[in-house]
Amino acid sequence: MNIDLKSAVRVYPDFPTPGIAFQDLAPLYGTPGLLGRLGEALARSFPQGYEVVLAVEARGFVIGTAVAMAAGRPLVLARKQGKLPGPLHRTEYALEYGSAVLTIQHAAVPPGAKVLVVDDVLATGGTLAAAARLVEEAGAAVSGFGVVLDIEALGARARLAPVPVVSLLTAS
Ligand code: PRP
Repeated sequence: MNIDLKSAVRVYPDFPTPGIAFQDLAPLYGTPGLLGRLGEALARSFPQGYEVVLAVEARGFVIGTAVAMAAGRPLVLARKQGKLPGPLHRTEYALEYGSAVLTIQHAAVPPGAKVLVVDDVLATGGTLAAAARLVEEAGAAVSGFGVVLDIEALGARARLAPVPVVSLLTAS
């Protein structure tokens, strides 16, 4: 890509709580045509293949949609507590700030499917680890994690190993 992606990420210190540096991807998404190219870049980064793209609420929905469209694969939405109807797989997880519950619908991920899990930012890895638990509960397998930005200093890749993680950008 010809654009300097890194300079298009805005960092807000001490947001939403003191000590957290918020990585704002809005300038990336605000660049015409770039979201589609980011989606294509992630979609082709997993030669081991995947049949389903799972995106994590809320900010993961943006890039997850772009990846699913680029790959021509179905999109599954992993949502926070209280947002999805019907029988659910559910897991609780700790965040960089606070905790949350993530859910998917029972029928959303076919048993045996290979799933690419997509989010915007990888920080501690707690969110993607929770999404992976949901995929496993559904009887499917995570073949990869794709993110726009990895905050490398937090060491999430080790936490998510041996499943491959692809990030288009890194921050320290
Ligand atoms: C942010 C981000 C990732 C997650 C990364 O979402 O979009 O999903 O945190 O953090 P982790 O690697 O430490 O788990 P957040 O939970 O703030 O929710 P939002 O997308 O609804 O804003």
